Amino acid sequence: MISNISFSRAETCLIMEPMHSNPYGNVHGGALMKIMDNTAGIAAAKHAKGTVVTARVDEIVFHKPIHVGDIVTCIGQLAYVGKSSMQIMVSIVVHELSNYSEPETALTAFFTMVHLVDNKPAKVPELVVSTKEEEEIYKLGERKYRDIRLKYKA
Ligand SMILES: CC(C)(COP(=O)(O)OP(=O)(O)OC[C@H]1O[C@@H](n2cnc3c(N)ncnc32)[C@H](O)[C@@H]1OP(=O)(O)O)[C@@H](O)C(=O)NCCC(=O)NCCS
Repeated sequence: MISNISFSRAETCLIMEPMHSNPYGNVHGGALMKIMDNTAGIAAAKHAKGTVVTARVDEIVFHKPIHVGDIVTCIGQLAYVGKSSMQIMVSIVVHELSNYSEPETALTAFFTMVHLVDNKPAKVPELVVSTKEEEEIYKLGERKYRDIRLKYKA
């Protein structure tokens, strides 16, 4: 069974339209969070090969505003797995449509997704690390997993 970080990586690419905007003309934070949640869910479902739910969202940071007409690319990749839970590292990078500018990181977050079978948490495959970069992601994910457990079990 394939279960490495690159296999489950998910990418969503969208142009921001007026329907994504808040009353001030920037893209609505909630619209961006929905894209992140969906992308994290796809990555988790690919890894678990089954149903997943969002259990938790940590550290959503809005680094820069996004405007109508920008192209956003949301990337979700597994960073660590516990028994039934998965840590997904999610980011949104943004390009301007007019000149396809260099990508800039606009949002980052960590999602915890849990695999369910018959509505109960179920074991997920081990996460295989293949490169040095993936090793770094895994170490970060492991740290987050431990910090998060300490927080919510406190
Ligand atoms: C997420 C959920 C399934 C966890 O159920 P639970 O009965 O608490 O299950 P457990 O205590 O056995 O925990 C299962 C895993 O979730 C993790 N978990 C549970 N609550 C968590 C929380 N608040 N934050 C982070 N991880 C959490 C546990 O650490 C455990 O991880 P592990 O299996 O890797 O060790 C349950 O709380 C739920 O259904 N929540 C609603 C989900 C939802 O509706 N999401 C929005 C729509 S997708």
